[in-house]
Amino acid sequence: MQVNPQQLLDDGYIILREVIPPGQLDDLRNCYETLVERQKVIWAQERKPDGPPGGYWETAAQPRVFFDGVADETTAKAVEFCLHENTLGVSRQVMQAPEASPTLMALMCSPVRDHGPASWHRDIDPVGQAPLRGMQMDVLENAPGYVQWNIPLYDDSVFWVVPKSHRRPNTEAENRHLVTKGREPIPGGMPVELKAGDGIVYTHMMLHWGSNYSAKLRRTVHLGYRAFGGPVYPMVNHFYWHPDFTKRMPPGTREQFAHFSQLHEDECDVVEMTFRAILDKNAEGFRNGLATLHPGEAWRMVCVVYLSKLVQKTRTLKQPDVASLSLAERVDAISEHQLNFYLFEDFSRRFSLEEADLLWSRFRALYDKIQEEIERSVPNLESRQARYMLTDMPANFDVEDFIASW
Ligand SMILES: [Fe+2]
Repeated sequence: MQVNPQQLLDDGYIILREVIPPGQLDDLRNCYETLVERQKVIWAQERKPDGPPGGYWETAAQPRVFFDGVADETTAKAVEFCLHENTLGVSRQVMQAPEASPTLMALMCSPVRDHGPASWHRDIDPVGQAPLRGMQMDVLENAPGYVQWNIPLYDDSVFWVVPKSHRRPNTEAENRHLVTKGREPIPGGMPVELKAGDGIVYTHMMLHWGSNYSAKLRRTVHLGYRAFGGPVYPMVNHFYWHPDFTKRMPPGTREQFAHFSQLHEDECDVVEMTFRAILDKNAEGFRNGLATLHPGEAWRMVCVVYLSKLVQKTRTLKQPDVASLSLAERVDAISEHQLNFYLFEDFSRRFSLEEADLLWSRFRALYDKIQEEIERSVPNLESRQARYMLTDMPANFDVEDFIASW
């Protein structure tokens, strides 16, 4: 399957027909339904004392079944579909990268009873990641480092998008709409009409909407992919799966995931080298590391901002008062997810507490500048929409200024 990467950069998405080859549809439906049944048993076992018998399956607006949690050799197809030319292969094409890996492999399911519309949103957080314009320009002038997919097993038009909204911040009218009628159709928004087996690949920076979480049967494969070796450092650069799940996979599939883990590990080596160059005030080493992580020359500073967040998390995890907390509290301390937390903790082991503190102080000028932008532009940090208002990268502060700030 051949796609034009420019189409995703222009519109924010590409709709593709028959991503699931028609001859495989029935088989995959059965396979994914087996995973749903297995997950339902787990959710029932995990139900809260005061919850319904089915637990999360009965309470969630959009229950999500993670394949890596429940797939085994008999249902390996569910995972192997994520490695198909039509999914992984197309993701590589649109990200203009020699390699890519699934970050997230899940099935979005209809709820047991109607939950109605969700809210319009972008799947990004400029405060926690990087100012919105920076994230957008980095993609537009280089390539996406991360893409998402929806591939319904049954006809599906729940998902709506605002085409081209990935290229710009929210308009005033959109901000008002999000606050006053966030669960209603938005001017410029359109439903994505997909037949069973079709797919949409998109950048999750785009404004989008789950228009109706009704009880009508919905089984839609939801995937994320990150690039390796593309022009940018991906804005999502961790996995929501743990390699242990591949012990239940056939050898060929297990090897592919081992390869993805190795690519991640290799990238962590480069990040560590880059951080050590910063610790040593080795400007040339830092420039080289940065150019390896983000070969595209434009908007390299966005990569530095992403790295600064990793430094913050690393430093937090090294603090003795955090290190002694429970797993759930440590996850919370760095605002991460239980599923990807191990990667951050593994990375933090590369540094001592003293190194992490010193590294953090080297980023201090950058943190302060971003903090100024947050105070200038974000009226309420508690509001998801207000956090999109952090749009501008620090003015007059590029890579060389960052180096000078050490
Ligand atoms: Fe979303």
